[in-house]
Amino acid sequence: MEFLDLVKARYSCKQFDGRPVAPAQLDAILEAGRAAPTAKNLQEQRVYVVQSQEGLDKIDRISPCRYGAATVVVVAFDRENVFTYPGGKRDSGVEDATIVATHMLLAAKAVGVDSCWINFFDPEVAAKELGLPENEEVLMLLDLGYPAEGGGPLEKHSSRKPLAETVVYL
Ligand SMILES: Cc1cc2nc3c(=O)[nH]c(=O)nc-3n(C[C@H](O)[C@H](O)[C@H](O)COP(=O)(O)O)c2cc1C
Repeated sequence: MEFLDLVKARYSCKQFDGRPVAPAQLDAILEAGRAAPTAKNLQEQRVYVVQSQEGLDKIDRISPCRYGAATVVVVAFDRENVFTYPGGKRDSGVEDATIVATHMLLAAKAVGVDSCWINFFDPEVAAKELGLPENEEVLMLLDLGYPAEGGGPLEKHSSRKPLAETVVYL
């Protein structure tokens, strides 16, 4: 699939059929995350794959948005290994983890796996529930799987503002 077609075909799946992602597809998704660029190549992301019932129960205590996915990837980052930008007001943690997550989101579609980006949770509660080390912050949860019958993109999926509203040529 052409890249732009892939980007447009990806949608937020909110109804999974409950099958875990096949190992070869999961490996490809994780590899795409590994290939993501990070500031100074710090690679401070931490990626947790949740597939056990115990783990999925934890996800359900963190967020109501699992939608029946049997594979959930948690993307976190090591707060103590980020690059602080000049001025000292921002650092690379959220950005780097976001790029990793985006790579995986698109790679999923490329290998035939649907997904949903989830941030409807309290990161502190999530880190505690998952037993993450003190220095790690949860950025997002990535639901992964195959759509249930009748699932598919919501209507608003194809609704995007025209470029003229969001792009300015200076
Ligand atoms: C940063 C981010 C956070 C999101 N958080 C949630 C969420 O917590 N729960 C949910 O159901 N969808 C969530 N979504 C999915 C969005 O609602 C969805 O991407 C948007 O409505 C556009 O639809 P589409 O992805 O099908 O194109 C999130 C998406 C992004 C990019």
